[in-house]
Amino acid sequence: MPPPSHPDATEVEERGLLEQLSALRGLVPYVLPPGDLNAKVRTVIAITLVVISQFILVGAPFFLGNAQDAVADSVGRGDAFVQVGLFIAFFILGYGGLRVLSTLFSEAREYVFAPVAQQAQRKIATETFAHLHRLSLRYHLAKRTGGLSRIIERGVRAIDFLFRFLLFNIGPTLLQLVIAGAAFAVAYNGWFALIAIVVVVAYVAFTVMTTEWRLKFRREMNRRDTESWARAVDSLLNYETVKYFDAERREVERYDTAMEAYARAAIRSRTSLATVNIGQSLLMNAGIVASMVLAANFILGGEMSTGDMLTITLVLNQLYRPLNILGFAYREIKQALTDLERMFQLLEEPPEVTDAAHAVPVDDMRGRIEFDHVDFHYESDREILRGISFTVEPGQTVAVVGPTGAGKSTLSRILYRFYDIAGGAVRIDGRDIRDITQASLRASIGMVPQDTVLFNDTIGYNIAYARPDADRTEIEQAARDAQIHDFIAALPQGYDTLVGERGLKLSGGEKQRVAIARTLLKDPAILILDEATSALDSATETDIQAALGVASEGRTTLVVAHRLSTIQNADQILVMDQGRIVERGTHAQLLARGGLYAELWSRQDAAVDA
Ligand SMILES: Nc1ncnc2c1ncn2[C@@H]1O[C@H](COP(=O)(O)OP(=O)(O)O)[C@@H](O)[C@H]1O
Ligand SMILES: [Mg+2]
Repeated sequence: MPPPSHPDATEVEERGLLEQLSALRGLVPYVLPPGDLNAKVRTVIAITLVVISQFILVGAPFFLGNAQDAVADSVGRGDAFVQVGLFIAFFILGYGGLRVLSTLFSEAREYVFAPVAQQAQRKIATETFAHLHRLSLRYHLAKRTGGLSRIIERGVRAIDFLFRFLLFNIGPTLLQLVIAGAAFAVAYNGWFALIAIVVVVAYVAFTVMTTEWRLKFRREMNRRDTESWARAVDSLLNYETVKYFDAERREVERYDTAMEAYARAAIRSRTSLATVNIGQSLLMNAGIVASMVLAANFILGGEMSTGDMLTITLVLNQLYRPLNILGFAYREIKQALTDLERMFQLLEEPPEVTDAAHAVPVDDMRGRIEFDHVDFHYESDREILRGISFTVEPGQTVAVVGPTGAGKSTLSRILYRFYDIAGGAVRIDGRDIRDITQASLRASIGMVPQDTVLFNDTIGYNIAYARPDADRTEIEQAARDAQIHDFIAALPQGYDTLVGERGLKLSGGEKQRVAIARTLLKDPAILILDEATSALDSATETDIQAALGVASEGRTTLVVAHRLSTIQNADQILVMDQGRIVERGTHAQLLARGGLYAELWSRQDAAVDA
């Protein structure tokens, strides 16, 4: 068995970032939604605000440099006091003011863009959720539910992260580099632009390369973390077994070994981070020093002022500061892109059972069921049903019996169209169920399964789930018919009693009666009872049998039965074995025949007598 996965350990993709960036295309229709002018305008305004803020940010140091020169120039001249005061007020306050203004513009984007971002997240999450409900039973049986909801949760978080980092952090920093480079080239000299650009490019390349190199330590760390966690959990789950075998020491040693491996990986991860930081610092400061030397040279030659030098230092500092988090951002962006891709993949997963283009809604079904030479398999390498044919007239009850694994439940899944068949046809009222919309098909079929799972809500809610608009009298009537009203009424909270997760606070028989009540409230033309009572003791079963008798009155009923005594009165009994109908007839006919049914009957009869 694979170890349970640690809730916090994340795996980072091994593919390149550029390859992954294509996932972003999927986001475009959400930030620039077709037909939603408001959102489109907001997105454009938000980006414009960020662009303006970057211009102001680069402009501010130029202001301060000029102020410094103006102050230096006015020293020793007439009216110096007033001049200096004015310049200080104007330029220094101007510098501060500009920087604040830049922040204002940059943050104002939140007011404009936050609704778009939230709307996009909500839309994608809801679409994915709806899609999960469209996907077939086969898909859900193969997946862990927790895994699916995590894909949505992480995908939505990824969108938020990508907006914040790509659109409003990395993007603006690159823009700032371009503006600063252009401003340097125009105001001073192309060399300054070249140095700034070369340093940033080298910095980014170095960070990406070393972060990729570090990822393997991180993966190792995650793996070790998962491992030690799994060991600890497994060991504690087996607490008693550990005691039986006096194995505490062994368990602790095993855990310690796992922790040691984790510690080793963690040390490598930490020290490699230090290497990255040192390299980044070297590059960044080399760039600043080179620019300073160059500027000093120009100052000596009389081509530049000290104020210009100040401007250059400030611009470079401003430019390099956001790069600090580049390693982190790179890793997280990759992770976010992976999460986003997973969510989009989920959205693209095709549902197996779909409505045909010509499918029509049908209401008012009479409930004539016809299986016509039906072949079926779950996996193509294993046939489950072979040439199944039978007919149930409206209002009749047909029982299906046979050994476990014969394919009885499969019949009900096919009728409900959880799966499509490989050959033959299933018809209701003479119409192929593939020509009916799934919604109307399922609206006309009520299903009481063997194990009923309830929503973690009140009993009333669970019964009304069949028809949320049902009023209290209707709910109570359904509960009465299912013989559970008296039980519910006697509870301190009555219909408002919470049933607990999956309905665990109710006994099997009570749950089953709630399931019958809600099916009665649905009032379908066709009723499927799939071993609805086989998990119950025989006294409870007898009680419920009465409720089921009421339920099947006037409806076409397909009942998969475990105890043959409950189906003696069925209009027809089908005996299934290994995917085929091997016998059919009434109880009396089948007994007289002396085949598989008679054998099953005598065995159960003996069991009851014993
Ligand atoms: N989702 C599934 N995928 C693959 N095989 C399945 C699936 N569900 C049931 N089967 C197989 O199909 C056969 C018939 O199952 P089922 O109709 O549930 O039998 P039963 O007569 O006991 O109700 C069994 O052998 C079972 O292993
Ligand atoms: Mg079954």
